[in-house]
Amino acid sequence: MDALELLVRNTSEVLTLEGTHRERAETALTPKPGACVGVREGRIAFVGAESELPSGAVSSSTVVLDAEGGFVGPGFVDPHTHLVFAGERSAEFDLRNQGATYLEIAKAGGGIVSTVRATRAASEDELVRLALPRVQRLLEQGVTVAEVKSGYGLDLENELKMLRAVRRLGALTPVELVPTLLCAHAIPQEYRERREDYVRLCIEEILPAVAREGLARFCDVFVEDSAFTVDEARRILTTGRALGLVPRLHADQLTARGASELAAELGAATADHLEQVTDAGMRALADANVTAVLVPTSTLFLRMRPYAPGRRLRDAGLNIALGTNVNPGSAMSENTALALGLACLENGLSAAEAYWAATRGAALSLGLQRHGRLAVGDAGDLVLFSCASFRHLPYHLGVGHARTVVKAGRVV
Ligand code: NIG
Repeated sequence: MDALELLVRNTSEVLTLEGTHRERAETALTPKPGACVGVREGRIAFVGAESELPSGAVSSSTVVLDAEGGFVGPGFVDPHTHLVFAGERSAEFDLRNQGATYLEIAKAGGGIVSTVRATRAASEDELVRLALPRVQRLLEQGVTVAEVKSGYGLDLENELKMLRAVRRLGALTPVELVPTLLCAHAIPQEYRERREDYVRLCIEEILPAVAREGLARFCDVFVEDSAFTVDEARRILTTGRALGLVPRLHADQLTARGASELAAELGAATADHLEQVTDAGMRALADANVTAVLVPTSTLFLRMRPYAPGRRLRDAGLNIALGTNVNPGSAMSENTALALGLACLENGLSAAEAYWAATRGAALSLGLQRHGRLAVGDAGDLVLFSCASFRHLPYHLGVGHARTVVKAGRVV
């Protein structure tokens, strides 16, 4: 065997996540007690007992990491973030804590459109500079891949600016960024009285320009009273799909408006949020094999009830993904550990199910077959944790335990 570039030894266990979401999560995590992990050319090349390492696997150039009895798993994949933005909304946080609701604030001209004002006023350079520490905080939690949405530009120039900022950011951080066009995040203020014109701007100009420049992999729509209708979302997402952008939806967050059913109809990759999903919506998602993306940090942050019915979604057979949803309005938190804790405490998942959702489930939701798993040939993205079991992550609430993060075989 050619020498490994990196070897991790002295683990409590390595979770390889080689199962499927259809089996018991404990089994799907595929724990390998006391195993070593080896990486070559940025990919997993060996998982097994140290005594089984082929001769020549370790040379003087191999970086050997001592896991000190902690567990090792794949890098976390954050499947839902809005981490590129300017400005902040701490005053709204304060208002909500005194009784105002997210929708009331949005209707009064705050909310998403206030971040739109700040983001439009910022340069591309500034957006990159502001987003970099947020990505760094995700990395510190053990996140090695993150989806990032536009959606605070809401016109051609500024949506392109945001997605170009995402592309530049991706070159500055070890975290791999997966871009999503979310021009349909809110009706911009200047289109309030002529929303159809904005929908047409999305369809006729923004989507084609983004597709031409190859700036996004997904196209997303926020279906909500304060945002877009199901019919508008259908038109935008089918146009996006024809241009090669995979549909996904902000679905049933504040009210149930048929967004889950639309996600199923379109064969969307994901339906995100789902706090208010109905039984019919849940069945439609399960039948169409749409991944449910849970973002419980925003349910907490907005002081809303109920949380998404993670337990029932999982029991209905859906693949579940879990994200931070970091954004200035509904979840100012890059804390993956907190999301894991809330997924257990409030969405009703077991520790194993939550861990699956933040790794393999999230990777699959982004179409990344070689991430969120540590099988031979997979991405050499791994995390050495300072605790012996994944169960400790949701239990030690909100406290990150990533000790060393490896991206494509390099310590980052
Ligand atoms: O996923 N719900 C819509 N979008 C974000 C919130 C964005 C904001 O309030 O700025 C979310 O929660």
